[in-house]
Amino acid sequence: MYTQGLDQTEPLGEDDLSRLSERFESKVAAEQKVEPTDWMPDAYRTLLTRQIAQHAHSEIVGMLPEGNWLSRAPSLRRKGILLAKVQDEAGHGLYLYSAAETLGVTRDELVEQLLAGTAKYSSIFNYPTLQWADVGAIGWLVDGAAIMNQVPLCRCSYGPYARAMVRICREESFHQRQGFEVMTVLAQGSPAQRAMAQDALDRWWWPSLMMFGPPDAESTHNDRSMRWKVKRFTNDELRQKFVDMTVPQAHYLGLTIPDPDLSYDGEYWRFGEPDWAEFKRVLTGDGPCNRERLAARNKAHDDGAWVREAAVAHADKKRARAVAS
Ligand SMILES: [Fe+2]
Ligand SMILES: [Fe+2]
Repeated sequence: MYTQGLDQTEPLGEDDLSRLSERFESKVAAEQKVEPTDWMPDAYRTLLTRQIAQHAHSEIVGMLPEGNWLSRAPSLRRKGILLAKVQDEAGHGLYLYSAAETLGVTRDELVEQLLAGTAKYSSIFNYPTLQWADVGAIGWLVDGAAIMNQVPLCRCSYGPYARAMVRICREESFHQRQGFEVMTVLAQGSPAQRAMAQDALDRWWWPSLMMFGPPDAESTHNDRSMRWKVKRFTNDELRQKFVDMTVPQAHYLGLTIPDPDLSYDGEYWRFGEPDWAEFKRVLTGDGPCNRERLAARNKAHDDGAWVREAAVAHADKKRARAVAS
């Protein structure tokens, strides 16, 4: 049992626990932020650690599909933009690992779990980027879905997570716009470019809808997450908002959403059911690129060993100099 925020090392009695738990619940209900030094239920700590870690891993692995196109971007301008975007994602991963560390886990532990293949990250990054328009579709759809998921997290009850999300969301919105701009240029281009844009939409549409997680009826964490104000909307609510935002954008581009069941009921865009069996397969390690992504992360980690060693040696030297002076 964690006892942060208490002036005692004695085990907590039943009365103490229920008093602390009541205080915690009323704080969350009053929309006050929970901070790292506050007492919190173990289940809240576990839930937040899992969610922030998965989010951090997704940012880090998310660099890989687009990173594939850094050397092949069609112009210097596109290369510069893509480089900045991929670098932003690395920054997001780092803020989030730091946020997770405030809950008592270390970044080394989390990185180890990712490299060992025991940690989860967003299933979307296990799909390949086969052609240039995929970079546009990722910005437009994947970053678009990320914004839909993450804007409400700026009001998450856990302070360090909520604060990290404010900056992340601003950057995600730039990512979404650059993706939409890539798609706009292609959609207004030659027939071959339009076909490329349509092909990217065809392949990224359904995985993007899966980014909101399983349907509410099957989601095990929704209730508690909502009560503790970690989540503000359910998976299905967010998925619907995303579809309602994105369908008119696809129409503006003159592209077709690959869903024969798509129809407008006067208020919402109704859509077909994603292939949840595929979602589970990809999430449990059997997607098109799961093995490739893990291998690339492990290689990058091994290749970067000398940088970490040099940084530690430099810090040691600085410390020794400070002690000597
Ligand atoms: Fe990001
Ligand atoms: Fe992004």
